[in-house]
This record gives sequence, C-alpha cells and structure tokens, in this order.
Amino acid sequence: MIISASTDYRAAAKRKLPPFLFHYIDGGAYAEYTMRRNVDDLSSVALRQRVLRNMSELTLETKLFDETLSMPVALAPVGLCGMFARRGEVQAAKAAAAKGIPFTLSTVSVCPIEEVAPAINRPMWFQLYVLKDRGFMKNALERAKAAGVKTLVFTVDMPTPGARYRDAHSGMSGERAALRRMLQAMTHPAWAWDVGLKGKPHDLGNISTYRGHPTGLEDYIGWLANNFDPSISWKDLEWIRDFWEGPMIIKGILDADDARDAVRFGADGIVVSNHGGRQLDGVLSSARAMPEIADAVKGDLKILADSGIRTGLDVVRMIALGADTVLLGRAFIYALATGGAAGVTNLLNLIEKEMRVAMVLTGAKSISEISRDSLVPQAGSV
Ligand code: FNR
Repeated sequence: MIISASTDYRAAAKRKLPPFLFHYIDGGAYAEYTMRRNVDDLSSVALRQRVLRNMSELTLETKLFDETLSMPVALAPVGLCGMFARRGEVQAAKAAAAKGIPFTLSTVSVCPIEEVAPAINRPMWFQLYVLKDRGFMKNALERAKAAGVKTLVFTVDMPTPGARYRDAHSGMSGERAALRRMLQAMTHPAWAWDVGLKGKPHDLGNISTYRGHPTGLEDYIGWLANNFDPSISWKDLEWIRDFWEGPMIIKGILDADDARDAVRFGADGIVVSNHGGRQLDGVLSSARAMPEIADAVKGDLKILADSGIRTGLDVVRMIALGADTVLLGRAFIYALATGGAAGVTNLLNLIEKEMRVAMVLTGAKSISEISRDSLVPQAGSV
C-alpha cells in the first residue's frame, strides 16, 4: 500500500541497506512509543477543508532569518549520513540547495565541513552537540564560520544518549560491536564503493579531522561515547552565543518553560523536537507539545519543529499548530539511502506538491495564512 513517498522510500531503504544501518535510522529509544506517536499524533490532526476561494495565486516562499526558503522546510542534522549513500552529506546538501532550502550538517558527519560547504551554492547550517571536549566545540565553530556557515543548530537533548534497543539487537551499539559492523559495511565490496570510504575507517568527518587523522574508527566512537555532557546548563552556552555571530537555534525543546528560557537566553530560534523519539521514550510527540510552546513564545523567536514529519500535509499541519519552518529527518534519509541526491530531490518535489494541494484546499495562499484556523479542533486535532 502506498501511503506516502517516504513510506515507499523506507521500504526501499530496508531492502537496500545492511540491516544494522536500516535499524540505526529507523529505530527509536526503548519501546519506541514516542517515535510512533510523533507520526500518529501528527497525521491525525484534521485539516479544515475550504472551497471556492480563488486559490490560483499560491506561494510557499518563506523568510527565515536572512534567508529565503522556497518552502518552509530544511533537512535535519543526521549523524553518519555518509554511510547511507556515497558522500551522503554532499548528495543531500546538493539536493536541498537545488530546491532552495537549507541542509544541516551534523557534528558526527562522514563528510567534513570543508567538503560539504563549498559543494553547494547557499550557506549550509551546522549542528553542534554539547560535548565535554570544549576544544572540539570551539574548533568546530571556527571551522564552520570559516566555511561560511551562518546558522548554528545547537542540539541540547542529548546530555546522555538514549537507550536504543534495536541498535543493541543489530550490533550497532557498544563501541566494539559498532566498530566491527561499520568496518564490515565499509569493506564489503559493494558497500565500500557505495559509501565512498573504501575501507578507510579514519575518513570520518569532523571529529577525525579535528583530532588529526588517522585516529581510527574505534577511537572516534569511543571518544564520542565518552563525550556527551550531562553537566550542561544554559550558563555553559553563553560563550557560544557570544562567539557565534549568526542565528543560533536551540534544538530539542519540548516544554513551554524551556522555550521561554530559550527566549530569555537570546536564542534566535528553537526546534521543537524529541529527536525523532530516539532519546526519552514516553515524552510528548512534537505535535502534542507544539500548541503550548507556540502560545508561549510565537513571535519572540523562530519556531522550528521536527519528529514525525513524513508528508507535505504534515508540514502544513505542523505549521498550523505553530511552527514557522519544519525539519525533515528520517523522511529524507530513506530517500537518500534509496536514490542518493535524486531520491532526495524527488521527495522534496513530492512534499512541495502535497503542500500545494493542502494549501489550496485549506484556503491558505501563503505560509503566513496557515494557522490554527486551518485545522478542525474537534475532529482529532491535538
Ligand atoms: C538523528 N538526529 C540527529 N539530531 C542531531 O541534532 N544530530 C545528529 O547527529 C542526529 N543524528 C540522527 C541520526 C539518525 C539516524 C536520525 C533518525 C536522527 C535527529 C534528527 O535531527 C531529527 O530530530 C529527527 O530525525 C526528527 O524525527 P523524524 O522526522 O526522523 O521522525
């Protein structure tokens, strides 16, 4: 049954990828309740159909900070993207740039900042984790700045990694097991070409570049696992805010009080997110968390949102609930794994078409006309 392009791409990615990589993408934390609710809660938000309103002129264009986006969508930071397609970050970034939307490079990318930024004709966004090694953080910020990055996405919902039991079953978690698995994938005749690493495990993006290669994959994974920092607080972010000149977005906000704190801190934006249900299972879906957060801070900073967005209709729903722009996570990764840049382009085109249909039939001629009035409160909206 075809439900959406990302459902099809998910099925194709499952056939194509080594199982441990598919489950790394597809899985969430613990019993995956929150991961499922992200999708279910959002897709059950009822759109309010309106007709006979002359919808011949329609624009999806959006301003975000100093950028113009062809539609209110960006690609979320995804670690190890370069394992899912050859030089995967570059391929995804090119597809996003050609579509006129931002690509966010993860801290834990396969392709380094210096490879991805010059490959595209618009500034990419860069995502940073809070890590104990502040030297790495400073170095990464300096490199991002030098590469022309303006927008920083600061992920704060991983002070400690969530328990992902699918990864434990598939052999992706645990330093040694993950090392063995990834080496297998890189040196497998088909995969070694596809991934573009050709069995060179030190070729692992930002972290190995910082530490001086070849540090080796084992070192990389071990370093990362020991580097998440549970002691982090708003105070620790002040030097970053002061150092970074461009927009700073705090990713991983799920509570209205934290959103208010982000405003007080001086953030330019937040991402309402539970990390795609990969951190704390049992927390609210983004769709459920959004209305209260939007009521608290809409207009004080930009509200971005992710977790569970699979279609153009979902984009319209999330914006109606209060977001200014959304991020695609798994939706674009399945497409990238299946068809590289062409897969991501196709997905983005389909999402745009779905958005257009939803806007015509809800009577919204522009993104700013999408509001809670575009939803039916009684009929299953959250
Ligand atoms: C992620 N996510 C993520 N977030 C982040 O800030 N830095 C990262 O490196 C990663 N890595 C990552 C890997 C994989 C495989 C996934 C699926 C997700 C979270 C990501 O940015 C986003 O918040 C979620 O993917 C959104 O949920 P959906 O749309 O995938 O359900």
